[in-house]
Amino acid sequence: MVELTLPKNSVVSEGKTWPKPDGKNVREFKVYRWSPDDGKNPRLDTFYIDLDDCGPMVLDALLYIKNKIDSTLTLRRSCREGICGSCAMNIDGTNTLACTKGMDEIDGAVKVYPLPHMPVVKDLIPDLTTFYAQHRSIEPWLQTTTPEPAKEWKQSHEDRSKLDGLYECILCACCSTSCPSYWWNGDRYLGPAVLLQAYRWLIDSRDEATGERLDNLEDPFRLYRCHTIMNCTQACPKGLNPAKAIAEIKKMMVERRV
Ligand code: SF4
Ligand code: SF4
Ligand code: FES
Repeated sequence: MVELTLPKNSVVSEGKTWPKPDGKNVREFKVYRWSPDDGKNPRLDTFYIDLDDCGPMVLDALLYIKNKIDSTLTLRRSCREGICGSCAMNIDGTNTLACTKGMDEIDGAVKVYPLPHMPVVKDLIPDLTTFYAQHRSIEPWLQTTTPEPAKEWKQSHEDRSKLDGLYECILCACCSTSCPSYWWNGDRYLGPAVLLQAYRWLIDSRDEATGERLDNLEDPFRLYRCHTIMNCTQACPKGLNPAKAIAEIKKMMVERRV
């Protein structure tokens, strides 16, 4: 049997417990903390939120902690309405958006970690450098060879509808960081988010680089590490289906061979 030895700094220990406020409407939070500056192991800090003084979402509680209890808590967020993708994290064991996850959807203490299997910059902030480089590698912009029309590239309603279920992706990385294939081969496998984006351009009726785009994906790792485990589709907070998009790309690969 294979024996694994965990790196010393991977052990998460119990951290600081902050004072519990008076009042009946109090919620317990356990939040992952790690700083590259102090050389210490990661820890789980315990906070108590006064729900009578806080909004209903997990992001509201994290901002309550940052503003009223511990200003050093570090996290990303911007839109607070499920559009920017920056508040993606692991909440109660599931990758999701803190701003659209209601505290009332969770039983017991609310456990919050950064997105799994990514390097951590600090606390709840994952390092998405590789993820964004992979996105760039699929050249996510319209590519054409025919001369530009005077006014605009037109598309029928039917062709436009083929982008439904794809254009809504906010690149939050919840799907890719829930995919076991991406955990183990994230340096070479593009992962569900980037492949969904790749498919979005492959089926855009205005794009004229379909062959080159498929050539770019024809590789044992970049595309074919998807084993249809479907974690990605379950994780997507926008209700999208990256696994289906990946299957469609594989179908296009087969069809162009016959
Ligand atoms: S279906 Fe493919 S991309 Fe989605 S979780 Fe499974 S292996 Fe990953
Ligand atoms: S497919 Fe869903 S989970 Fe994946 S990056 Fe896009 S919005 Fe996020
Ligand atoms: S803050 Fe923008 S998606 Fe949550």
